Amino acid sequence: ATNLTVLGIETSCDETAAAVVRGPVQREILSNTIRSQIDEHTEFGGVVPEIAARAHIDVLDRIVAEAMNDSGCSWDDIDAVAATAGPGLIGGVIVGFMTAKAIAMAADKPLIGVNHLEGHALTARLTDDLDFPFLLLLVSGGHSQFLMVRGVGDYERLGTTIDDAIGEAFDKTAKLLGLPYPGGPHVEKMAAKGDVRRFRLPRPLLDRPGLDMSFAGLKTALRTQAKKLEPVDDQTIADLCAGFQRAVSDVLATRTGTALNLFRERHPQSEPVIVVAGGVAANQEIRNALTHAAAETGARFVAPPMHLCTDNAAMIAWAGIERMQLGPVNDMSLPPRPRWPL
Ligand code: KG4
Ligand code: ZN
Repeated sequence: ATNLTVLGIETSCDETAAAVVRGPVQREILSNTIRSQIDEHTEFGGVVPEIAARAHIDVLDRIVAEAMNDSGCSWDDIDAVAATAGPGLIGGVIVGFMTAKAIAMAADKPLIGVNHLEGHALTARLTDDLDFPFLLLLVSGGHSQFLMVRGVGDYERLGTTIDDAIGEAFDKTAKLLGLPYPGGPHVEKMAAKGDVRRFRLPRPLLDRPGLDMSFAGLKTALRTQAKKLEPVDDQTIADLCAGFQRAVSDVLATRTGTALNLFRERHPQSEPVIVVAGGVAANQEIRNALTHAAAETGARFVAPPMHLCTDNAAMIAWAGIERMQLGPVNDMSLPPRPRWPL
């Protein structure tokens, strides 16, 4: 393979990001610029799509210029432009993807419309020596799913949440306990001071086989417990957070064990590998639970550095590089999509 240098753009949620990545031979992140919109959304307790889209418009030009500048590349050095074409908040996706189309047209470069989930799925191949197939557990504010990653463009969803995503469950739990948005890190901080034995919360769906998950009932159970004790003091909040986090970790660890067994059945010749991606992967208790579940079955556990687990543009540029290894790509007529299963 020969090296390609790709500009990536990501705007599908509340981060405006651009990056220049070179690969697949040396796999170098030449620049990786990101601007979070969290401050714009905090007062609403969640991402407001209209505000997100406008904020992307405000800063995307500057972020792309910064990524180009930091990379030390001129436009002549760039082989292609890759941008998230979905799934995500459609206003933001339109801003990013149409900007990428304009840049690609003006600079006369091929355009690659990347599925955001494919970006997450392939990131570990940018950061680690990792061959196909491998298992991916994607846990973010919008997604909770197990994927069998068999190759570029060859994914099988093995199981998913049937209701809330895990990050969403963290955020809703935080909100109902009066903790700030985004809730995940705050729940984790409180849980560290909590007694995990005080509240027994359910492990939804674990009595059923397969790899689907459910988190909405957990939040409802927690609300019921909290209501009984109103007004809740800080120690109770901490104890509830600890119980919640433990329940989620248990569910993920159990499902990960099941997924790894399935992997062994299907790919007896391959080393079993589980890769984690998404913002929830920042949670230390969840990481420990997954590390433990992998070790128990003798599997390798791969967790890319946090800034590449959460939304970023390096993963989009890298997915573009991976796609181009399969042959020429021209996505100029691809529409931006709010929904786009892998
Ligand atoms: O991947 P991400 O940055 O954005 C997308 O949703 O695509 O994930 C954000 C989610 C939020 O729901 C946030 O609460 C959660 O990840 N999160 C955490 C932690 N840090 C972020 N959840 C649990 N524990 C954490 N430490
Ligand atoms: Zn994401």
